[in-house]
Parts: sequence; structure tokens; C-alpha cells
Amino acid sequence: MADQLIIFDTTLRDGEQSPGASMTKDEKLRIARQLERLKVDVIEAGFAASSNGDFDAVQLIANHIKDSTICSLSRANDRDIARAAEALQGANRARIHTFIATSALHMEKKLRMTPEQVLEQAKQSVRFARNLCGDIEFSPEDGYRSDPDFLCRVIEAVIAEGATTINVPDTVGYAVPELYGNFIKTLRERVPNSDKAIWSVHCHNDLGMAVANSLAGVKIGGARQIECTINGLGERAGNCALEEVVMAVKTRRDYFNLDLNIDPQHIVAASRMVSQITGFVVQPNKAVVGANAFAHASGIHQDGVLKARDTYEIMRAEDVGWSNNKIVLGKLSGRNAFKQRLQELGVSLDSEAEINSAFARFKELADRKSDIFDEDILALVNDESVSA
Ligand code: KIV
Ligand code: ZN
Repeated sequence: MADQLIIFDTTLRDGEQSPGASMTKDEKLRIARQLERLKVDVIEAGFAASSNGDFDAVQLIANHIKDSTICSLSRANDRDIARAAEALQGANRARIHTFIATSALHMEKKLRMTPEQVLEQAKQSVRFARNLCGDIEFSPEDGYRSDPDFLCRVIEAVIAEGATTINVPDTVGYAVPELYGNFIKTLRERVPNSDKAIWSVHCHNDLGMAVANSLAGVKIGGARQIECTINGLGERAGNCALEEVVMAVKTRRDYFNLDLNIDPQHIVAASRMVSQITGFVVQPNKAVVGANAFAHASGIHQDGVLKARDTYEIMRAEDVGWSNNKIVLGKLSGRNAFKQRLQELGVSLDSEAEINSAFARFKELADRKSDIFDEDILALVNDESVSA
């Protein structure tokens, strides 16, 4: 039987740390609704203690999203953890994600703490969090550049205190796939209580290897949770891209042999929505969600695809939510044409007020973007009724 792979989306937390990508709480709720449609297992909604705005966003999402687990990040201290728990009170399923750096560099230069102090603080924080919430994730920040002996001690201790997920971040995107996979494998083998927690990977993309490293962490290391973001949004060069890692696991199920809850039909609309809200354009040749990801330009390829799609297509555009109907509406289009297109797309909005509000957003977008595709319209309308 295949194992389940948990998809933990951090677009709203790590993704938002991308310079220029900040979002309002209503925009975050729109994205969270789309992530719920996508059937993401865990949504990291923010870092509740970092600001009142982040607290409000986590609380709003916890109160409205019922199918996914809602998570808040927190530093390893009681104040942050209590604030996270407070923001998560309305959630059906809540997770507190606490972290502290464990690499020699971070401990000495950033935290100015000794390893023993870090170990104590990690233990104490997980113990405190566990009294407030049954689902606790612990991350040793800069884990991949940490001394493995020390890391094993910290991980063993926090599992003993009740951590249910152990996430090993490659915080600065320094890893390469084989080494990262083996790193996770070694930790799992050496930590005596390792089977009491789910192991997770969190890879940054500084060397363009976040997806490959995450997959190695799963395949070689045995991790069963991947942390990722829509369009690979995130600090510096970003995080592991959800759409790529999900479609790799699905398309190469023969190799990974893992089950996922994700419904890929909502991937393209999610990508469009995040791009529209943040203003971060998706490069045309981006895997899965780029405008050219399924385009065939050369005569030989077109001929092949017309004869048999498998000749040059390893996955189906429609399976990730691309429609056949390409350029459709623009800034001169009227409300009726928009309404008609909604019907064709199978979208039913509950009231005229909702149609009006979606139409207003469509017009706003059409002012910025000359060609509006069906995917843009789906991203616009899949997020009605956002106020708290
Ligand atoms: O990259 C990182 O180390 C993080 C942690 C807070 C999980 O984002
Ligand atoms: Zn990160």
C-alpha cells in the first residue's frame, strides 16, 4: 500500500516573506479558500505573533477554512506560542509550528546562545505548546547546516516533549538532492524515537534545487510531508513550488508510490490568483503553470501531438486546470459577456451582488492585463464572500 504524502502550503507565511509580496487579510483568505479547494492538507496561515495584521489573518483563516489544518508559525518562546494558539482558537484542526535555529553559525552569531541553551529552549517551547494544541511541528532552523550530532539530540528531545512533526529546513537553499536525502535518512535512523513523528522537508530555492531536494528528502530520506508554496513564492529565490512537486509525485507515481489528497484541477487557478494578488508574474516557461507549459510550437511536435498526445505530453493540461478556450474577454467586454462566460465555466455565484463584485474585479484586472483567460476568471471568482 502507498504511503500518504502531506502537502503543507506556506504561501501565506514563507511566501509572503518574499520582498514585495505582502497581502491583506482578505487577500489571504481568498488564497486560503483556493488552497482548501486544492485540498491542501495544512495551510500555514501566518506568523500570529509577528504583527496584529498577521494575527488577524491567521484568526480569519482559522475561522473560515474547515477542511485543511490551519497552522501558525511561532518562535520558540511562550509569548509567541500563546499568541499562535489564541489566533487558532476557531480552527477545526490547528497546528502550532515552533522553530529555533540549530546551526553553529545561527546560534553563535544570531541568537548568541550556547547549544545547551538552544536545546533547553526547544524542549521548553514544545512542552508549552503541547499543552495548548495536540498538533505540534518543530523546525530546527538552518537544520541542514547544523551539526548532525547536536541536531539528533534536539530532535530526540522535542519528540519526547510531544512534537508530532519534525521539519528539517534547508533554510538557505544550500543542499543538493542526494546529500539532503541522505541527511534526512541519517537523522531518522539515528534518532531513537524518530517513528513517533512525521518527518517533513522545507527547501529554499537559492540554487534552483528546492523541488529536487524536497523529492530526494521524500524518496531517499523517507519524509512524508513537503512544505511548499504556490508558484514557488518565498524568501529570496523562493521555496519549493507546490505545482511542480505535486505533479512530479503524481506523474511519476510509478517511482514515488505515494498518495496525495491534492485535486490538481485547481492548480492553475491557484497560480493565477497568487500571481494577481502579489503582482509576481509567472514566467512563460514555468513548469505546469507557465503560459507555454503545454504549448507546442515546432512543426514536428505539433504533428506528433496531433497523432498521439503522449508523444510530447507527459501530463494533460486540462488535469491541472488549463482550459482549451484561450483568449476570451478583455477590458471592453461587458457584464453580460462576463456572466455568460461564468456559466460556460460552470461557476454559479449566489447573488447579483457577488456577480457585480466579481465583474468589478474583472474590470480592474482587464485594465492591467490585455488578455483575460478562463483561468484568470476562475481565479477571480473562486474567492467570493471574503469579509470576516
Ligand atoms: O526556512 C526556514 O528555515 C523556515 C523555518 C521557519 C521553517 O522558514
Ligand atoms: Zn523557509
